[in-house]
Amino acid sequence: MRLDIVSIFPEYFSPLDVSLIGKARERGTLDVRVHQLRDWTHDVHKTVDDTPYGGGPGMVMKPEVWGEAIDAIIADGRAAGSPAADSPITGSPITGSPATGSPITGSPITGSPATGSPITGSPITGSPATGSPFAGGPEASATPRIIVPTPSGRPFTQEIAQELAAEPWLLFACGRYEGIDSRVMREYGARMRVDELSIGDYVLAGGEVAVLVMVEAIGRLLPGVLGNVHSAVDDSFAPGAMRNLLEGPVYTKPPVWRGHEVPEVLLSGHHGKIARWRRDEALRRTVANRPELAAAIDPETLDKHDRKLLDELAFRVGPEDMAN
Ligand code: ADE
Repeated sequence: MRLDIVSIFPEYFSPLDVSLIGKARERGTLDVRVHQLRDWTHDVHKTVDDTPYGGGPGMVMKPEVWGEAIDAIIADGRAAGSPAADSPITGSPITGSPATGSPITGSPITGSPATGSPITGSPITGSPATGSPFAGGPEASATPRIIVPTPSGRPFTQEIAQELAAEPWLLFACGRYEGIDSRVMREYGARMRVDELSIGDYVLAGGEVAVLVMVEAIGRLLPGVLGNVHSAVDDSFAPGAMRNLLEGPVYTKPPVWRGHEVPEVLLSGHHGKIARWRRDEALRRTVANRPELAAAIDPETLDKHDRKLLDELAFRVGPEDMAN
C-alpha cells in the first residue's frame, strides 16, 4: 500500500518510523511518503492560508497550493508505477472483504528529503528508484483515495479502517487553521473518492494527529503487519462476533498480584468456558461503557446465555419484541 501524506508539519509523522508501522515500511508492505505542503507555494513567505470569505475568525487553507500538491503527487504516483490494478496481489487485509485486485505495490518518489528526516520525501523529482520493493507496473489512470481529516467528517470506524486497508493508494491531506477551502474536496471528489473523516467529537489543532491515528488503525490490518493473524479478529469493534462489542479485561502472570487474583476460569484450560467468560465480559463492559453500542447489537447474534446476562444487567437490545 502506498500512503502519501501532505502537511505543513512533516515532523509530526516521525512515529511512523517505529513499531509495527516502521517495520511494515522496512519490509515494504507500506510505502509512506510525507510531503511538505509549502513546497508547492510560489511566494517568499510560502503562504498556505488566507482570511475566510464571509468573515469570522481564523484562516482557511488556499485551494491553489493544495491543487498543485495533489496534482503533483498523483502524477508522480502514476509515473512511478503507482499501485496498479493489474499488479500481482501479495496479500489482502486480515479482516473484512479481500481487496479486489488491490496490490501492495508502489514506488518511492526519488529526490532528497525536504527536511532531512528519513520520513519526508518531497518535492517530487527524478525517476523511480530501481530495485524498490514496490515495483508495480505504471498505471496511467490510477488515482489515490483522498482522505481529509476534519472534525466535520464522517466518524472514522474500524469498518472504515478495514475498507481503507483494502485500497492500494491513500492520500491524506492534513488541514490546519479553519480547514481547507471546500472547493479542493469538490474538485477532486468529481474525479476520485474523497472522504472527510473525523476521529472523534473533539477539535484538534490540525489533521496530523488524526492521520497518525488512522494510519496506525489501517496499517495494522495489512497482511503480515500484526505478529498474530488472529489478533485483529478479536479486537473491539471487529466485524463478526465482536461487532458492537468492546473487548473485556486481559491478564497475564503472576496468578496473584498484590492480592488481586486472575479469574479462575482463565487458569482452567477449558477453552469453551474461557470463550464464554470472555463474551460475558465483553457484553458487561459494552453495556457499562458504551450503552449506545450495546443497544445496536443485532439481537439475532445473541444466544440464550447472552440474553440471560443482558436481562440480569436490565439491558434491552433491539426492538422490544426481540429482546426476550
Ligand atoms: N482535525 C481537527 N480535529 C479533528 C478530528 N476530531 N478528527 C479529524 N481531524 C481533525
